[in-house]
Amino acid sequence: MPKKLRLGILGGGSESLIGILHRVAAQINDNYELVAAVFTPDFDSNMAFAQEIDMPLNRVYQDFDTLIEEEMQLPESERIEVCAVLTPNYLHFPMALKLLENGFHVICEKPMTTSLEEAKVLQEAHKKAGTVFALTHTYTGYPMVRQMREMIKSGALGKIHKVDAVYYQGWVNTVIHDQKKRASVWRLDPKKAGISSCMGDIGVHAFNMLEFTTGLKVKSILSDFNYLYNGNPMDIDGTVLIRMGDHVKGVIRASQVATGEENGLAIAIYGEKAAFKWEQENPNFLYLLSDTQPTQIYKPGHGYNSVLSLDGTKLPAGHPEGIFDSMANIYKGAARAIRGQIYNDGEFPTMLDGVRGMNFIEATVESHKGGNVWVDLE
Ligand SMILES: NC(=O)c1ccc[n+]([C@@H]2O[C@H](COP(=O)([O-])OP(=O)(O)OC[C@H]3O[C@@H](n4cnc5c(N)ncnc54)[C@H](O)[C@@H]3O)[C@@H](O)[C@H]2O)c1
Repeated sequence: MPKKLRLGILGGGSESLIGILHRVAAQINDNYELVAAVFTPDFDSNMAFAQEIDMPLNRVYQDFDTLIEEEMQLPESERIEVCAVLTPNYLHFPMALKLLENGFHVICEKPMTTSLEEAKVLQEAHKKAGTVFALTHTYTGYPMVRQMREMIKSGALGKIHKVDAVYYQGWVNTVIHDQKKRASVWRLDPKKAGISSCMGDIGVHAFNMLEFTTGLKVKSILSDFNYLYNGNPMDIDGTVLIRMGDHVKGVIRASQVATGEENGLAIAIYGEKAAFKWEQENPNFLYLLSDTQPTQIYKPGHGYNSVLSLDGTKLPAGHPEGIFDSMANIYKGAARAIRGQIYNDGEFPTMLDGVRGMNFIEATVESHKGGNVWVDLE
């Protein structure tokens, strides 16, 4: 059994949304040991949290720069090997860049950066570093999403002609109508979130899911945003027409003010022979639709699933696995890559997904601001 990889974490403090998902996911397949962290910019809270989760306190640092400085002074056999970046968006770029420049592997939250320009700089740094970079588009880790990808690759749908991805949440409706509440949310502050809220936070997941499952690339887009208030600089709702080819078209619908919606990510891929439908809130059911046959339901853990899908299931069929397992699958793939072991294409989203995502986000803003015009992706 190989030794556990020494993991550092940036962000993900006690009050954070995503911290627990990464900490648990990192443990699920016994690949990582959390040895260093800066969970929050406040040192006392940082230490208190480290104490609460019972990790050694001697490598809980004041800030990110100190973490790099001190870790680099440790012998290589003790130093962190990989670091997860779970901070608000504007910190991903400087943190990931410095980590790569110092030879670390990186597991980074999405959106990868706050601009395409930064994404390209990171891409160059990654090429130079030659280390592993995994981007946590969490939903690609679900066994049934992986199954869709593999079946589409082997031609189960025939030629694809229509794609439809929706990602609806409602939580911004509870803060957007009150100036004070709105100002307290970093996702609605362009300095911390980047140029887009809705597309940057969730539209980009939908975009990534379409490219991940179909194997096709989005070539051009046209978007229409809703900001709800004139003084609000950030999109909180948007519809994006997409073209993935001359005869492959579709739509991404995303909203943070879809009242009452929770984490409503769903995708549908329609092909000449059949179609797939999948919903994040019921992730263990993948529907295969046909014009001539009854609908079939694929479920995880059965022998009929692909190698990539089965690799993401730990228990026999009928034991539901969810979002923690999905993230754990990404961590598992990244661990294989870090150890130089063989892994399947699709086990974790990469730097390229990050660059594509930033290209998409910027294009949607450009399209809307340019008067709802078609914009090509690079
Ligand atoms: N993959 C997914 O499905 C998914 C889901 C939710 C969030 N995210 C991404 O994760 C990131 C964090 O989101 P969140 O919802 O957890 O945010 P959050 O505001 O809940 O938590 C952010 C954490 O970062 C810490 N932090 C802030 N500045 C820091 C600094 N300088 N150094 C160290 N820690 C610092 C905060 O103290 C907090 O603990 C975002 O980029 C978001 O887009 C991804």
